[in-house]
Amino acid sequence: MIDLTGLEPVARGAVRDIYAHPQDSGLLIKVINLARRQHEAARSRYDRLRKPDFSDVFLQEIDMVYRTGRRASGQAGRLPLVEALGLVMTSSGVGQLCERIDGPDGLAPTLGALMRDGRFDAAALDKLNDFISRLYELRVVVRDLHPENVVWDEREDTFVLVDGFGLWTLVPIHAWLKLASDRQLDHAIREKLVPRSGLKWDGGQRRLSM
Ligand SMILES: Nc1ncnc2c1ncn2[C@@H]1O[C@H](COP(=O)(O)OP(=O)(O)OP(=O)(O)O)[C@@H](O)[C@H]1O
Ligand SMILES: [Mg+2]
Repeated sequence: MIDLTGLEPVARGAVRDIYAHPQDSGLLIKVINLARRQHEAARSRYDRLRKPDFSDVFLQEIDMVYRTGRRASGQAGRLPLVEALGLVMTSSGVGQLCERIDGPDGLAPTLGALMRDGRFDAAALDKLNDFISRLYELRVVVRDLHPENVVWDEREDTFVLVDGFGLWTLVPIHAWLKLASDRQLDHAIREKLVPRSGLKWDGGQRRLSM
């Protein structure tokens, strides 16, 4: 059991708090934040039958990393998604262990941060298109391609998805059919990335442009 009491998260999302691993500087621990845990605890039994606990997302991500790693085995270069490694029990409930991607000053900058800071240039756009191509090629099932869910890994010279991926349906249709994972990714780009980034999307060529 890892005691996180008194520690400050290094980052926060809408539902997860992200902590530096107290013993391993290469790892992060993601836990469901207090507000969401309280919301989960207050849900009715009927509601639970309809929709699983939010922390199921931890397993969905680990499963997606496994499937993608298997598909990419033998290929050079890192996976286009964060290596979610396993589960740990913490003082804030079940946590997910994952690799920590660093930037020049602390955690790696997100795509959103690069855009806000005016650091998203033509070279970065090429890298973003390479990243998107890898997601299609490796059939990563992406639900939420928000610019804050994509970080820049400067060491590996590539963008990496840190959140918003995994299989969530009872029947894993997106894992079975490339057409289904492709359509899901098309949708995530059109509905989540394009409106929040201001980039243009050519659905035929599957390329982004300024
Ligand atoms: N492995 C990682 N390496 C570096 N930074 C990370 C990593 N994972 C998450 N982050 C940072 O923490 C932030 C929040 O993490 P994450 O997106 O997993 O939380 P969330 O609550 O699920 O997000 P959302 O608000 O999209 O629901 C990210 O936007 C990113 O800046
Ligand atoms: Mg996020």
